[in-house]
Amino acid sequence: MPIRNSPKQTDFISRPQIGVGLRKTHYPYLETKPQTSVGWFEAVSENYMDSEGRPLHMLQLIREDYPIALHGVSLSIASAEGVRPEYLKQLKQLKDRIDPFIISDHLCWTGLQNANLHDLLPIPFTDESLRCIIKHVDQVQNALGCHILLENVSTYLQPPDSTYTEWEFLKALAEQSGCRLLFDVNNLYVNAKNHHFDPILFLDAIPTELIGQIHLAGYTDMGTYLFDTHSKPVYPEVWELFSRLIARAPDVPVLVEWDDDIPEFPILEAEAQKARQIWNDHHGRTDTESISTALLSSGA
Ligand SMILES: [Fe+2]
Repeated sequence: MPIRNSPKQTDFISRPQIGVGLRKTHYPYLETKPQTSVGWFEAVSENYMDSEGRPLHMLQLIREDYPIALHGVSLSIASAEGVRPEYLKQLKQLKDRIDPFIISDHLCWTGLQNANLHDLLPIPFTDESLRCIIKHVDQVQNALGCHILLENVSTYLQPPDSTYTEWEFLKALAEQSGCRLLFDVNNLYVNAKNHHFDPILFLDAIPTELIGQIHLAGYTDMGTYLFDTHSKPVYPEVWELFSRLIARAPDVPVLVEWDDDIPEFPILEAEAQKARQIWNDHHGRTDTESISTALLSSGA
C-alpha cells in the first residue's frame, strides 16, 4: 500500500504550513536567524549534493530551525535511459544529512547520455511513458527509502501521440506508482493558457489524497504565450485556482517559489502570508495573530 510522506509532529506545530523557496540571495539575511513567519523552506537538492561548502553549511543552519523539503531539477525520471545511480547515491546522502519531510522532483526528462540540458522537457502522455516512469519511481523510492513527489511542469509544446490528458496521466501515475503529486498551480495555469484547456478540468480531476505539496509562483506574459519565470508575484487568476484547491486540501503544505528578480525576504514572506490568508478564509484563523506580529516586526 502506498505510504504518504507526512511531516513530523515535532516539525509542524500548527496549520496552515506555508513555506518559501530557499535562495542564495537570502543567506545573509537568514544567517542572522531573524524571526520569520514562514513554516518551512524548500531547497533545490542539486545545490547541496556533493557539497561540503557554504551552501551545505547554510542549509544545516536553517534546518536547525525549520523543516526542509528537498526539490530536485535533474532526476530526469522520465528518461528512457533510467535514473543515474550516482545521482541517487548523492541524493540519499543529502537526505540522510538533512532529514527532509519531502523529497520531490519534476515529471519530465532533462537530457540523455549524461548531457544535462538543465531544462524540464515535456513527455508524451502514453501507456509506454507511464510504464517507464512507474518503473523509475520504484527504483528511486527503493534507493531513497521513502516516497517521492513529482511535479507537473510548464510546457510550451505538446509532444505528439499522447493518449492521456495531462491530468489523467498524473492521476494514473500517482495511483499506480505510489508517488504523490507536487501540484504546481502556476504551471497548471500556464499550460491551460498555452495549450487552450480549462484549468478547472485539471484542478478538479486530481483527488486530494494524491497531492503531497502545492507550489505557487508568478509567470511572465510574453504576449502570445505565458512563460514560467518565477520572477513575479502570484497572479490573481492563480490565487483563484489555489483558493479552489486549498478549500478541499487543508492539510497539504504550500510553497511560494521566486527564482528570478528575487525580492527582499520580507516581500517573499508577505506573498506567503497571502496564501495563509486564503487558507484562513476557508479553514479558520488558527495562527493569524502570531504571524501578523512576526510580519509587523519584520517591517513587511
Ligand atoms: Fe513549481
